[in-house]
Amino acid sequence: MDNKKGLFITFEGADGCGKTTQINLLKEYLENKNYEIITTLEPGGSDIGKKLRQILLHHDGFVSPRAEMFMYLADRAQHIDTVIKNNVEKNKIVLCDRHIDSTVAYQGYGRGEDIEQINLLNEIATGGYKPDLTFVFDVDSEIAQKRVGNVKDRLESEGLEFHRKIRQGYLELAKKYPNRIKVINSNKTIEEVFEQVKKIIDEIL
Ligand code: TMP
Repeated sequence: MDNKKGLFITFEGADGCGKTTQINLLKEYLENKNYEIITTLEPGGSDIGKKLRQILLHHDGFVSPRAEMFMYLADRAQHIDTVIKNNVEKNKIVLCDRHIDSTVAYQGYGRGEDIEQINLLNEIATGGYKPDLTFVFDVDSEIAQKRVGNVKDRLESEGLEFHRKIRQGYLELAKKYPNRIKVINSNKTIEEVFEQVKKIIDEIL
């Protein structure tokens, strides 16, 4: 790929998988190679998204699983239309912390919402726009829960069984979309995990 073409890369995994650290390392690595990088996140990468993030992660009280799902999807639609697409079109590399696969893993495998319906809703929310590449940071669920620590948000507080289902969901997604989704073994040191990321990125660029 020449330096001028934009890319949309997403980072996925259960809470505590270490993806945010890896996004920052990749940003630095690619900026040193003179690529223009935008880092962003879901939920919360747009103006409306910031408000939705607050509700999604910190609302105190019952949230209907379907209401939860639609808020993630609304965040995504706004994010695609105001942040992601236009930056890729300006030939930037957009590194996005969570995207479509999080909804399949969390609301589908985690909460038990219908996966085919989620696929359709994701398609509507994104207008069919897809990541060029997705990393799934796979880590043993007990280790991930320890990394999260004691101060937990609404989703992080769901416990080990919920997070085991999410991990399983991601592994199944990776099997289903092997060209787009690359699984990174994250039961390792930050440097060892980043070596795996770098190898894949170097091949693509
Ligand atoms: P994070 O930014 O700390 O990863 O927090 C986002 C939380 O929201 C995380 O627990 C995963 C969850 N989530 C979903 O349940 N569905 C989604 O579609 C997305 C994007 C995130």
